[in-house]
Amino acid sequence: MSKQDIKILFVGDIVGGIGKRALLSLLPSLRDRHSPDFVVVNGENAAGGIGITPKIAEELFAAGIDAITLGNHTYRHREVYAYLDAEDRIIRPANFLRSQPGHGWCVVSKDGVRLGVVSLSGNLFMNAGRPAFSEADAALHALKGKTDHVLVDMHAEATSEKVGMGWHLDGRVTAVVGTHTHIPTADARVLPGGTAYITDVGMTGPRGGVIGVKREQALESMITKMPIRFETSDDDPWLNAVVITASEPMRARAIEQVLEPAPGIV
Ligand SMILES: [Fe+2]
Ligand SMILES: [Fe+2]
Repeated sequence: MSKQDIKILFVGDIVGGIGKRALLSLLPSLRDRHSPDFVVVNGENAAGGIGITPKIAEELFAAGIDAITLGNHTYRHREVYAYLDAEDRIIRPANFLRSQPGHGWCVVSKDGVRLGVVSLSGNLFMNAGRPAFSEADAALHALKGKTDHVLVDMHAEATSEKVGMGWHLDGRVTAVVGTHTHIPTADARVLPGGTAYITDVGMTGPRGGVIGVKREQALESMITKMPIRFETSDDDPWLNAVVITASEPMRARAIEQVLEPAPGIV
């Protein structure tokens, strides 16, 4: 590894307390093994499975997380609204309405390396107020000259829209990582222009449920078509993440998937 190499660990949607505890318990060994310069996590499901609170965000920052991205569940907890405006390192999709609390990108620095992090929401089957593609361009314009690397979290339902964003930004950012479906995809690669890409990183949470929900409740809902109260599963927690290695500014050399069980976490 050359001296200029930097590594970014990006962790998929943290689901509930079980997901947070899985991340915190595995983080020391992940640091030993991968030596990430930056750790970025998607925290949109960290508070009881939906949304995030200032307390949980502070816990993640205290554990050395450098930036937190969000998604469609950003505004579930009202107490986070003012925090989203005040804390630079937590970002909601940039293509939400400008009137909505928070901001869509941030820059974090370590040892003289500046990492820009951009959050975007898809538009297909999602409720973002403005288009993702033109906002991605606007974010890069705003970050021009201010970063050495840029990581984009494309939080979207449709695989097509995520692949499209990967191609749209290829050669212009270090990485485009997909989140939201909670299921990791098998297409991690560096695109020809040098952008690391994966359609979905997956989730950090209970694999024994249905994308985070207790499976009995999810199944009852699917089978009976009646309203069911959903709770977060605590069965079989796993961490889903990727490690991106970059040598030159805005160019990735490798992207490696990290899928790891977190046994013994309750
Ligand atoms: Fe999620
Ligand atoms: Fe989501």
